[in-house]
Amino acid sequence: MSPYAHITGWGMAAPERVVTNDELAQNVDTNDEWIRARTGIKERRVVSDDQTTASLAVQASLRALDVARLKPTELDLVIVSTSSPEHLFPATACLVQDQLGATRAGAFDLLAACSGFIYGLDVATQAIRSGSVKNALVIGSETLSRIVNWSDRETCILFGDGAGAFVLQASQERAGVISSVMRSDGSGGDLLSVPAGGSYLPTSHETIDEGLHYIQMNGREVFRFASRVMVQATEEALEAAELDVNDIQLVIPHQANRRIIEAALRGLKIPIEKCYINLDRYGNTSTASIPIATCEAIEQGKLNPGDKIVFVGFGAGLTWGAVVATWSGPLPGVRMVLPYRYRLYARVRSFILRLLRRIDALIWGRHNPYI
Ligand code: ACO
Repeated sequence: MSPYAHITGWGMAAPERVVTNDELAQNVDTNDEWIRARTGIKERRVVSDDQTTASLAVQASLRALDVARLKPTELDLVIVSTSSPEHLFPATACLVQDQLGATRAGAFDLLAACSGFIYGLDVATQAIRSGSVKNALVIGSETLSRIVNWSDRETCILFGDGAGAFVLQASQERAGVISSVMRSDGSGGDLLSVPAGGSYLPTSHETIDEGLHYIQMNGREVFRFASRVMVQATEEALEAAELDVNDIQLVIPHQANRRIIEAALRGLKIPIEKCYINLDRYGNTSTASIPIATCEAIEQGKLNPGDKIVFVGFGAGLTWGAVVATWSGPLPGVRMVLPYRYRLYARVRSFILRLLRRIDALIWGRHNPYI
């Protein structure tokens, strides 16, 4: 029988620096009242100069591995979902794999904007169910503050930085991810984009002068699309799981705008008490918002083993999706695992590998023995 993909570990990382609405209002023509009323956001976190998408991802991952009691060396797959990767390539996931010391894992980035964590959960689940992967790490990590135009009041008020991670593990016990839905509509790609810096419009003086390396958004259109697809995706995922909204104990939506979440809940006839919302404190952290909200919901005792949960999100692309899962927690069997210790091992290993590569290059010079 195909194994089930259990969510056995979770962790989050949020930068210490808090930026309030009042602080933003010192730079752009906005105010706390407008932002709270239109979005529900009160403050957001912003990285310091020495923090990056990978460093937040590593922090969140170590916490998730700790909860799952899993060594980094036991991971088979690392997926980093992000719209603010460290580079076009190498993949941020490879940098995270190296820093964690996940020596046996394949690693790749996934770009589905704010729906990325849902997509990542689905992909990791299918890999586990097929039997090719036993232990997977799915991370949502963003430093959107680096690609936001801080003088554009229509976007800079919305976004924040942060990371969240889940460990998924194979188990024969019927629980974990029950169903998932991934959808897209590229005809709406222009509604939310970073136009320059890719192969279509490579970075140039002109693109920078025109601010095309920043997030551009048609807020009203995104709002209309989001309210509709959150309902649609939830209904499709519930139907695939053969469940009803009444079977659900908790909904964790993508945290973009409180009004979008409220509209979706009205459409689904789900009371707001069954939904976890923390966007007031983090803003929209894109693909990190669902795992961050999950970590906080667990901390507050809102999610218990056996509960049925819906994760639902939408984002640029356009993309959207939902996952229905039975919450289970760490797999049984107490093991002392200290994933943090692997940080030192990973650093030393990475240093030695780089050194060996240099020595190898010196010895062989330009002659590749395999050619
Ligand atoms: N402060 C004050 N006034 C503002 C601000 C601001 N920060 N931003 C816009 N306004 C003004 C507008 O200029 C407009 O003025 P006008 O009527 O004189 O033209 C007025 O406020 C109303 O603007 P709307 O765009 O109609 O405001 P709306 O109620 O739609 O709220 C918002 C705007 C918050 C952006 C909303 O449309 C929204 O949340 N959209 C979804 C955005 C989203 O979720 N994006 C992330 C997607 S996920 C991903 O992939 C990253």
